[in-house]
Amino acid sequence: MSRFKRLAMRASIIPFGAAFWLVLAGVSPIAAQTVVQNDFEDGTTQGWGAFGSVTVANSTDIAHGGTHSLKTTGRTASYMGPGLDVTNKLVAGATYQFTAWVRLASGEAATSLTMTMKRTPAGASAQYDQIATTAAAGVTDAAWVSLQGQYSYGGSVSDLLVYIQSASATDSYYVDDFVISEIAGPPGGPQDNSGITSTFEDGTADGWHPRIGDETLTVTNADAHSGNFSLLTTGRQHTYDGPAIDVANKMYNGSQYQVTVWAKLAPGAAATNLRVSLQVTLAGTTNYYTVIPNTSVTANAWVELTATYNMANNYDSAALYVESATGTPSFYIDDFQLTYIPPVQIQTDIPSVYQTLSSYFPVGAAISAADLSGVHAQLLTMHFDSITSGNDMKWDATEATDGNFTFTTADAEVNFARANHMRIRGHNLVWYQQVPAWVFLDANGNPMTPTPANKALLLQRMQNHINALLTHFGSAVYAWDVVNEPIDPSQPDGLRHNMWYQIIGPEYIADAFRFAHEANPDAELFVNDYDTTNPARRTALYNLIAQLQGEGVPINAVGHEMHSNIQYPSAQSIVDTVNMFSQLGVDNQITELDISVYTDSTSSYTTIPPSLLAEQGYRYRDYFQAFRSLKGKISAVTLWGLADDNTWLDTFPITRLDMPLLFDTGLQAKPAYWGIIDPSQLPGNALTGSIASKSGTQTGRTWTIALSNPGPGTAYGAQITGFTLTQTAGAACTPVITGPSTFPVVLGDIASGASATTSFVINFAGCANTARFSLNVPYNSTGGANTGSIVRSNEFR
Ligand code: XIL
Repeated sequence: MSRFKRLAMRASIIPFGAAFWLVLAGVSPIAAQTVVQNDFEDGTTQGWGAFGSVTVANSTDIAHGGTHSLKTTGRTASYMGPGLDVTNKLVAGATYQFTAWVRLASGEAATSLTMTMKRTPAGASAQYDQIATTAAAGVTDAAWVSLQGQYSYGGSVSDLLVYIQSASATDSYYVDDFVISEIAGPPGGPQDNSGITSTFEDGTADGWHPRIGDETLTVTNADAHSGNFSLLTTGRQHTYDGPAIDVANKMYNGSQYQVTVWAKLAPGAAATNLRVSLQVTLAGTTNYYTVIPNTSVTANAWVELTATYNMANNYDSAALYVESATGTPSFYIDDFQLTYIPPVQIQTDIPSVYQTLSSYFPVGAAISAADLSGVHAQLLTMHFDSITSGNDMKWDATEATDGNFTFTTADAEVNFARANHMRIRGHNLVWYQQVPAWVFLDANGNPMTPTPANKALLLQRMQNHINALLTHFGSAVYAWDVVNEPIDPSQPDGLRHNMWYQIIGPEYIADAFRFAHEANPDAELFVNDYDTTNPARRTALYNLIAQLQGEGVPINAVGHEMHSNIQYPSAQSIVDTVNMFSQLGVDNQITELDISVYTDSTSSYTTIPPSLLAEQGYRYRDYFQAFRSLKGKISAVTLWGLADDNTWLDTFPITRLDMPLLFDTGLQAKPAYWGIIDPSQLPGNALTGSIASKSGTQTGRTWTIALSNPGPGTAYGAQITGFTLTQTAGAACTPVITGPSTFPVVLGDIASGASATTSFVINFAGCANTARFSLNVPYNSTGGANTGSIVRSNEFR
């Protein structure tokens, strides 16, 4: 029986009231708190995956409790085994007990197993902490043994991953009933995340005190940012004299805070910069840090000083204080706020994008090195089974100087993807952008002109580059964007007249494909371009591919970048385009999908309206409906980024906030995500219409139409776009709709659970009361993305 159950039973026989609480108070608190518990009884791996190249799967061969366990096979090195990402699950300074039950697969010789934590301190390289290990031949195929140990770590970390390895490089084994429980919180008890607020309205200094002792602090109603009171500091002798507040046990190592204070100089003081600093003392040593940078403050107006701050220190004592950069003016402060910012956590209770689409095509994301650890890595591996390096395989990243190849970042991405069983697209080999200047300089270091010597030199460079990349990455990269963005429909030959074209000639394209095919005959070779649904651009691209095919050039596929916006292109044009290229017998991929919320290159929002994010969700719905319908013709769909916190559209075509991807800047699922996974979750999608009432005389009948939104979410910008009455029975007559006379009839935003109505006035002169009519009232919401219509037959007038 668990201790919790015992406690519950004991409590249940005691009557409610004071006695109940007394008895509970007498019981020692439940010490251990379960942080992770995996019994694998649901048939999944419960988040466990491969550490190294192994196969980790749920198994019903044998179990420690129940009927399921986790089985690891295919090991080739002793460090490899099953691993579980526990980033953000463990708190620095707390003590945990880790338990796993382990057993070797049938026929394996006795060995030892070890539980290890791969810990990556913020900004440093990974450390490997042993948590528990068994005796030398302590694990056999005959019995379950427990692997148990305590673990604690300090400092801030970007990544924590627990895995179970073996002294033998190859044996297969089972893991079951894995539990992490917290047996002691961090010193000083659980973290107090309540923050600090100081308004001085109760007439006290709210815990603020003179930092040095020169200063005098006075709560005053002479001035205030809000309410009546503020805190005035006078008598400062040094720039570092100022009001201070203790933040010990309010700011914790590894946590993030928003720190805000309003300040104003005393009357007559000359403008200066004020800032907020942090002083921490540990074992007698004091260090100082800037929390809110210098901010210009005057005697004329209240100024907000604010910043987010990552606390990165352990301490015996800690205080925040306000000081000046120069001068020692007296100043007021007010409305100080220290707010704990919870760490970003991904949603683990929503469907995986790639698993949802697994019967259609792999789903990829463009990534950077920052996506390989922490919550970004969790989001990436949960939702995507393919990657493209956003920039790290491009020419400028891999061959910045002639013949000197750098693969460090790309290799890290490739290794991560391989370890997580993801496919890897190579992007890109020959493009006119992100190519270092040396590539187009002649033998004397001057800009190339079209000469036979330069053509030979540039071809040589191209071949050398392609060969180096395809050889280096080998079979790890299954597809390459060989030539990127070669189309320009404004040219007579439809080709972009870039430097490759100018120096080598149009055959640079065929040459690049031939070099790539020679270097890796197994790779799928793509021509990749943008705006491929545009008739002029796709005709040029189609002609290029057809011509290359006619010349026997080894080209396999076309990549549609699909950088889109909430109005362009239409889903139908995507279907048409893919079908068109399929006729050439080439494979298609969507390679760089994103959907900007902007339809021009000048507007910008500081906060993107929820209606636009909803509309974007409908566009994603429509696109993925189109992609699904093209099953077999599209071999992958790749999003150009993981989440809105890192998108190239924040700087292209201008610097502005854009949110073009499936997850928001805090890594949470957007309507865009739900449009793909479950459109019934889209805001306003269940909007329905009805005839609410009919009233009035025959020549001035009023039909009231209602649009009702049962939720979820708001139906933004609801409108009725037509009202058509057609007679279906009775002596012929001609009803006339006398109002309104223009469409659409705008009903506006309809909140979840609400409805809105509008009336149409109809002159039924000459229509008998036995006449029957059909009615058709189309309506929509969310920028026209969510459509429906009221269709009725057999209506009386
Ligand atoms: C973009 C990257 O996302 C940016 O980080 C970089 O600054 C510029 O390039 N078409 C392509 C991609 O083929 O390589 C581009 O990626 C986006 C347009």
